[in-house]
Amino acid sequence: MDQVTFRSDTVLSDVHLLLPNARHLMTRLNGVGQPVFISRFKILRDCENHDPGNGTPVPATEERVCEACGGGEGPREEGEEEGGQREKCGGDTRALLDEDGDLDVVRRPRGTLSPERDAADRDAIHPIILSKGEEAPADDELQEECAGNVIMIEHTMATPLEDVGKQVWRGALLLADFILSQPMLFQGATVLELGAGTGITSIVAATLAKVVYCTDVGQDLLNMCQQNVTLNRHLLKPAGGEVKVRELDWLGDEFCTDAETEFSWMEEEVADLHDNATLLIAADVCYDDDFTDAMFRTLYRITSNLRHASVAYISIEKRLNFTLRHMDVSCEAYDHFRRCLDDLQDITDGKTRFTVEPVSPRFPQFFHYERIEQLELWKVTATPL
Ligand SMILES: C[S@@+](CC[C@H](N)C(=O)[O-])C[C@H]1O[C@@H](n2cnc3c(N)ncnc32)[C@H](O)[C@@H]1O
Repeated sequence: MDQVTFRSDTVLSDVHLLLPNARHLMTRLNGVGQPVFISRFKILRDCENHDPGNGTPVPATEERVCEACGGGEGPREEGEEEGGQREKCGGDTRALLDEDGDLDVVRRPRGTLSPERDAADRDAIHPIILSKGEEAPADDELQEECAGNVIMIEHTMATPLEDVGKQVWRGALLLADFILSQPMLFQGATVLELGAGTGITSIVAATLAKVVYCTDVGQDLLNMCQQNVTLNRHLLKPAGGEVKVRELDWLGDEFCTDAETEFSWMEEEVADLHDNATLLIAADVCYDDDFTDAMFRTLYRITSNLRHASVAYISIEKRLNFTLRHMDVSCEAYDHFRRCLDDLQDITDGKTRFTVEPVSPRFPQFFHYERIEQLELWKVTATPL
């Protein structure tokens, strides 16, 4: 396939629109002719990460002030990469604690950015699309770039609706933030991700978990996901975590165990999942009512058959649309999601009890993205009776 394919009915994730990477490298065309890019997602640790407890979203282009030292990125120095993070923080954290011991966050007001500077920043983060044939970084160069706290993700930039899994969505980063903020919960666990897309959340989970079954549907998508797992294997090594990319179609009833099919399950893996899984995760998987129904059916079927009680964390972005039917803005996909949660709670099959609760969004932010208030995380607990 050497033809670049663009269609008019495409959607683009805000993550790729605002990601403060100077380099968006188109590395290849995928099996269906879509340009594939690599983005770097830096995990902000310690003094770099940001507690959005006050609910203030931090857009990727906003200047940030380090919470521990109070020092901002300040004006970029010549040659410093757009959006790049300063590595050092020499500040004294004690000075920033209030009398109760809470961290006092000093954030530069948005107004201090000049409109010219703002516009220049936005211009600068437009993706640079390398012409086809220009040299892509070699595998060992990528590995070098990946070192430390950077996750490298292959993705496409804009896709038709049926290929949305090839982009990274904000819900994936919200869920990844939650995972990193709950290390004890995920440590050593067996985890199942539904609708994993590029695999970024599974990769983050596997920095803590024992094994993550990272599932989605479609050969091309699963290939990209597997490639992302390979690109980031150095992050998993220290903890010994493993990501297994497997096919799991919510529209089917079974785990595909046909050895001839790529990304199929081994019988032992299905058994391991049923015997040991205690956590399920799913990011931004409820945007189409039929898929949402199918996802909830899968969630019900799998959790009802697990040996242990389990908890599923589901992130969703409430997307507002103007509809002629309502002559108003509505979020039908979100409303349907909420109805499915209610239905789950109402199930009385004598086998499993489901309880549902929202997760407070006051957990730290480890990735650069806009933590908008429409991003929500829900917790579903399945308890065998
Ligand atoms: C909006 S994307 C989210 C991808 C990723 N979790 C993220 O947040 O970046 C929705 C995902 O649901 C997956 N999906 C849709 N229908 C599915 C089905 N029938 N079985 C399994 N996965 C499905 C898509 O392939 C896609 O990866």
